[in-house]
Amino acid sequence: MVLVDRANPTDRLDVERLIAAYHASEGAKPKPERISWAVDQVLRNRFPGVVLIGREKKAVVGVALAVYSPSAELGRVLVVNDFFVDPAARRKGVGRALAQKLLEEAKAMRVDRIDLEVLPTNTVASAFWKALGFRTQGRIIYSRDLL
Ligand SMILES: CC(C)(COP(=O)(O)OP(=O)(O)OC[C@H]1O[C@@H](n2cnc3c(N)ncnc32)[C@H](O)[C@@H]1OP(=O)(O)O)[C@@H](O)C(=O)NCCC(=O)NCCS
Repeated sequence: MVLVDRANPTDRLDVERLIAAYHASEGAKPKPERISWAVDQVLRNRFPGVVLIGREKKAVVGVALAVYSPSAELGRVLVVNDFFVDPAARRKGVGRALAQKLLEEAKAMRVDRIDLEVLPTNTVASAFWKALGFRTQGRIIYSRDLL
């Protein structure tokens, strides 16, 4: 059984470990300093958002990090930047429990909409988010790195 709650500072290393595993699973080289910085921003409420963890017994097996973004067009938007379940703990409802808690937290923050990106090759993530009622809305993401 999984228990999902907001992460606290003592969960930090587990949160960072799972986020690094997530980035590696997407083919990116994890940047520990950047991960630490992003987790710190949200955990210390320097930037509004939420860090959730899923625990099975004492082990942290899932993580979600989302940040709040005010949009003149869409209202209060919560953007999910990191979402990962340990491969050994998949297909047991951990992801669903994390997403449900995220929805609860979003409602408490009076969020109008939750946004996230999925790589075109990530069919599992697409199936997962669709199963949870998320839909694509025909948008294309453009990006330009500045560093
Ligand atoms: C996507 C991910 C978070 C799902 O976590 P999970 O704990 O395995 O998901 P759940 O067990 O809660 O599954 C919920 C539903 O999603 C769908 N789903 C999950 N994994 C699936 C798979 N491999 N194939 C098809 N559907 C799947 C199913 O509808 C499932 O319900 P069911 O088990 O009753 O059929 C996990 O696979 C993961 O961490 N992937 C790598 C990171 C990633 O892609 N993150 C999302 C990027 S935004």
